[in-house]
Amino acid sequence: MEITLVLGDITEQEVDAVVNAANSSLMGGGGVDGAIHRRGGPEILEECRRLRASRYGKGLPTGQAVATTAGRLPARWVIHTVGPVHSRSQDRSELLASCYRESLRVADSLGARSVAFPAISTGIYGWPMDDAARIALEAVRQAETSVPDVRFVLFDDRAHATFASLLSGGD
Ligand code: AR6
Repeated sequence: MEITLVLGDITEQEVDAVVNAANSSLMGGGGVDGAIHRRGGPEILEECRRLRASRYGKGLPTGQAVATTAGRLPARWVIHTVGPVHSRSQDRSELLASCYRESLRVADSLGARSVAFPAISTGIYGWPMDDAARIALEAVRQAETSVPDVRFVLFDDRAHATFASLLSGGD
């Protein structure tokens, strides 16, 4: 597997699947989630509604992942996953790692060859970037997956620099 870093907007990525930092409702929100639904169009939300009416009546649990169409995005699929809200009193890193592992498992089941991840939980959910980046890179490196091309799409220089120093350090 090759891991690459991109500075940019995840909605523009030409990959088989983009991962959405969603919430349990699957009904959209701000940040990456808002951008994906805005650019991808209403087809994504329609499929999310069907998922809520069938498999996920109570919502998608934190740490799990599910795929829908990518609508008008260049990607073929959106894989929605729910990151944990950061907590100072509780270690939720296993749930954050699970988002990456489960997304790759879903990607494998679709036959996706390239997957773009945002830095899950580092925006509205408040996870410190360096800690989240360490967990993300370790989870992806250790995942049992046949996806050969994994891309982290970082939205600003600071996030990109954090991932870059961890990736080059082999940490
Ligand atoms: N492309 C790539 N990265 C982005 C983009 C983009 N277009 N937009 C923001 N980021 P967030 P979370 C970065 O808040 O913390 C939503 O309301 C951003 O700078 O999108 O997991 C959901 O519905 C940050 O580093 O996701 C949930 O309720 C990272 O993506 C909640 O937010 C993740 O920020 C999920 O919060």
